[in-house]
Amino acid sequence: MKGVNHFLVVFAFLALASTLASASDPSSLMDFCVALNGPKNAGMHSYFVNGKFCKDPKLATADDFFFSGLDKAGNTSNAVGSKVTPVNADQIPGLNTLGISLVRTDYAPYGGLNPPHSHPRGTEILVVIKVGLIHFQLNIGKTDAIAFAGLSSQNPGVIIIANAVFDSNPPINPGVLTKAFKLEKKVAEYLQTQF
Ligand SMILES: *[C@@H]1O[C@H](CO)[C@@H](O)[C@H](O)[C@H]1NC(C)=O
Repeated sequence: MKGVNHFLVVFAFLALASTLASASDPSSLMDFCVALNGPKNAGMHSYFVNGKFCKDPKLATADDFFFSGLDKAGNTSNAVGSKVTPVNADQIPGLNTLGISLVRTDYAPYGGLNPPHSHPRGTEILVVIKVGLIHFQLNIGKTDAIAFAGLSSQNPGVIIIANAVFDSNPPINPGVLTKAFKLEKKVAEYLQTQF
């Protein structure tokens, strides 16, 4: 019993003597995870992160972290008068798991428009490089315009509201659209044919 008491006293003393504690997050296991579209070349590191396999880090090349062409104007000759050039993990596989991406949007003069949309996986900050007259993502100026956006996701996704509503597959029942948007049924049906 006496031996046990001595042990407890010594143990308590040692516990009190050590006031230093060291704790931190564990270091990250991987600095990067170059995205592959399948398990080929994934080697031992065939993890499946954010929907993409990781390339064996030993096989990563500088090109996996490179994209060129953001200086090129997008072709805005289309129905909405704008062209989005995305640079996300699909264009730069090295962005996979790193939580960042970029977009260039060109707007045609006279009403070029990037249709109302949301990014389900990212927050966006937009810089207007060349001004026609841009309201955030909406150009009503007389000259062409360019905006660059940085997004807090390797692949922020995009939901274009008009397409999601009138071009869904399977389609939304026109009766529902009629009530929800206070439209005549034939107008709802017409809109559903326009995409
Ligand atoms: C831009 O797109 C339009 C419509 O697809 C096409 O006719 C035109 O040739 C394109 N212009 C350039 C410079 O690629």
